[in-house]
Amino acid sequence: MERIGLDIGRSMAGVVGERGFTKDMLNGLTSRLEEARGAVLRAAGTGMLGFTDLPSADPSAMLKYGEQRGPEFDALVVIGIGGSALGVTALATALLPFYYNELDDAARGHRPRLYVLDNVDPDETAALLGRLDLKRTLFNVISKSGTTGESMAGYLLVEQRLSALLGREALKEHLVFTTDPSGGALRQIGDSLGVPMFDIPAGVGGRFSVLSPVGLLPAALTGMDIPSLLKGAEDMAAWVTDSKGWDNPACVFAGIQYLHNTAFDRRVSVMMPYSARLRDVADWYRQLWAESLGKAVDRQGRMVNVGPLPVKSLGVTDQHSQLQLYAEGPDDKVITFLGVGEFDNTVTIPAPGAEASSLAYLGGHTIGELMWAEQKGTAWALARRGRSSITITLPRVDAYNVGGLLYLLEMATAISGELYDVDAFDQPGVELSKQATYALMGRPGYEKLAEEIE
Ligand code: PA5
Repeated sequence: MERIGLDIGRSMAGVVGERGFTKDMLNGLTSRLEEARGAVLRAAGTGMLGFTDLPSADPSAMLKYGEQRGPEFDALVVIGIGGSALGVTALATALLPFYYNELDDAARGHRPRLYVLDNVDPDETAALLGRLDLKRTLFNVISKSGTTGESMAGYLLVEQRLSALLGREALKEHLVFTTDPSGGALRQIGDSLGVPMFDIPAGVGGRFSVLSPVGLLPAALTGMDIPSLLKGAEDMAAWVTDSKGWDNPACVFAGIQYLHNTAFDRRVSVMMPYSARLRDVADWYRQLWAESLGKAVDRQGRMVNVGPLPVKSLGVTDQHSQLQLYAEGPDDKVITFLGVGEFDNTVTIPAPGAEASSLAYLGGHTIGELMWAEQKGTAWALARRGRSSITITLPRVDAYNVGGLLYLLEMATAISGELYDVDAFDQPGVELSKQATYALMGRPGYEKLAEEIE
């Protein structure tokens, strides 16, 4: 089977000039890359590296639940935020048909429409709750900690509406929780109401949880191909385990990003899919990279303030928005082009009539060819200006390759944590803002902080 490809040619000095890498520069990092990979593999499955066990975990309970309950509902609403929402959205955009929610029941395979409520915007929330038929809606509340204020507020809103309309006894029919196996308010609520619950393994953090029930339960309910998704991740795990240094895809991604950042002070890592299906993978990557690598101190407690800024972009749309900056602005970025070898559809551009003869060059080509030409042409044009990129190519966007890509980026993030010598699995920087919110919302115990803020 054709594998995901990685091409770093357009980061090399022979192509982009003096701000590109020589072979010696790459070789100079090889032993550190191997140490980093070794450290991640030795710790796999322990501590917060539980994500490495997910590709081989048994999904049958989720598949069964999805098969049984998916067809009962017209809508599935995921209530979660951050790592408890971005993976679901990435999977849905990549693997459900385009305009899925607009399809009729039969075209959706008798599976529910999918909505992801990952914000507390009152207008958006009111609009969503207002358009749902609650009798035909299942709410999947997802929170690893089981305490996140935004998601708990969403839960309280739907609990009140469901209780008022259908009675408290009906709650367990319309709710399913995905949360920590033992702690948190959500677990307690689930236990007391008899709500079905799926566990997020203790060693799996939010942004590494897409292949746990966080991503897989909504995937099962909407009928995505979970076995292929996991198989793709499992095969990628084997590749990452069995290959070394610059032959290892996770090391290549981590190593090249690290070198751009540290050798050439490129502080921005742009992910630019040339596939609308992969648009939200870039969004998911943005969180994975930002929360994992943006750290004040290293593991020795020294102040380092590291972390490249991940940016999401979309080809070709953002060629008409961002590309000018990438080409002529500061040379502080590395672009990761995310391309696909084969699209599902062949859409041929018709030959124009005489009145549009200046468009004749387009006629007879497919719009897939136009997409490829734009990707290749843009990578080339950037390189001509000395601007670096790398290219990841998926043979096609399907469950198998998406599983492989997600796992590849997770492993690359863990390896990058080793290179920067930071804890890639915590997020202390968001804690103070959470406490400030608690204080401003009047949570007991935060009175002093509330005074300080006011
Ligand atoms: O990656 C993370 O850990 C965070 O982004 C969390 O996913 C986010 O804060 C939501 O947390 P929780 O799942 O506990 O509600």
